[in-house]
Amino acid sequence: MSTKKGLRWLSGTASPERLDDGSTIWHGFISDITTLKETLAFQNAEKERQANELIQSYERNMVLSRQVNHMQKLESIGRLTSGIAHDFNNILACMTGYNEMNQDVANDITNAALKAELEHNTEQIHLAGKRAMDLINKMLTYCRQEIVEKEINIKPTQEIIHEVLNMLRPALTNRIKIEYLNLCHINYDDCGTCVKQDSCETDIEIDAIDLHQILTNLAVNARDAMKEHSGTITFALNTVTNIKTICLACSEILDGDFVELSVGDNGAGIESKITHRLFDPFFTTKPQGEGTGLGLSTVSGLVHKSGGHILVDSSQNELNHGTTFRLLFPPILTEYR
Ligand SMILES: Nc1ncnc2c1ncn2[C@@H]1O[C@H](COP(=O)(O)OP(=O)(O)OP(=O)(O)O)[C@@H](O)[C@H]1O
Ligand SMILES: [Mg+2]
Repeated sequence: MSTKKGLRWLSGTASPERLDDGSTIWHGFISDITTLKETLAFQNAEKERQANELIQSYERNMVLSRQVNHMQKLESIGRLTSGIAHDFNNILACMTGYNEMNQDVANDITNAALKAELEHNTEQIHLAGKRAMDLINKMLTYCRQEIVEKEINIKPTQEIIHEVLNMLRPALTNRIKIEYLNLCHINYDDCGTCVKQDSCETDIEIDAIDLHQILTNLAVNARDAMKEHSGTITFALNTVTNIKTICLACSEILDGDFVELSVGDNGAGIESKITHRLFDPFFTTKPQGEGTGLGLSTVSGLVHKSGGHILVDSSQNELNHGTTFRLLFPPILTEYR
């Protein structure tokens, strides 16, 4: 009922009574239940709030326990890997040393056919040894990234991206185009060096060598995803606001504004059933000998070391949709002198 004091809720009951003369009278009363209704509504809202709080705290605990499990798994894999890599390194040093001695022996051989065969064999051992050494270095880089306290070399992000693009060009075949979209304009001199010395909203606080490694790994994966087809790898630096999502690598809930650095391709895309394994060390879908599966786990370690997180947009259903790795970093304002 609408009154001068506002809306009031009334509740009424009535019961009939038959009188001797055959007529009926009604007994009843009406009460104002507005306060009761308000109390009930308040209690319900309070119960709902408590239930929501419980759900949120349960979800936070689940995320935390997933993160702890993941970190423990990575730590034990890291320890195991670094032990193996270390021992393997020593054995390899011994093998390559003996191979070099054989190369010296080959130089002294006068029999041309024998000399050529020995040179060929030692060269193959040398190449295989080099591949093994690269692999060990990758394993050691993966293991050391958390441990080594190195001096951080921070440069303007755009400058690092330009350096990486210049370096990548020869590693990509002509059928792959590189595109760079930036929303923060800094001038570059003829050598590709940043010459504008003021602040830039889209900077990331990250070690230059780490960012090199991150972008190179993502670009090489993008190249491999395009296989023999032609395509474009798109690097983009941007600011994004009001992001509400979960990091694919560490499951942390992300809520807020970030600087986004993305690497996109129009390659084969990633099957949704493997996306949760992408950042696991040694996870690869490449044939034996072509991938170690340490690229993305290294990327994840380096991105998180700088307070960043990772999202992956990918689809195999739409033609040439490809994959975009989106790295989200906390925004900073830096001044370079
Ligand atoms: N851009 C991409 N498009 C499609 N699949 C990708 C892409 N990037 C990564 N992947 C998938 O993720 C897997 C893991 O990548 P990761 O870089 O960790 O290892 P890898 O490339 O297989 O080996 P490497 O250690 O040599 O980098 C790849 O094997 C591939 O299946
Ligand atoms: Mg890779």
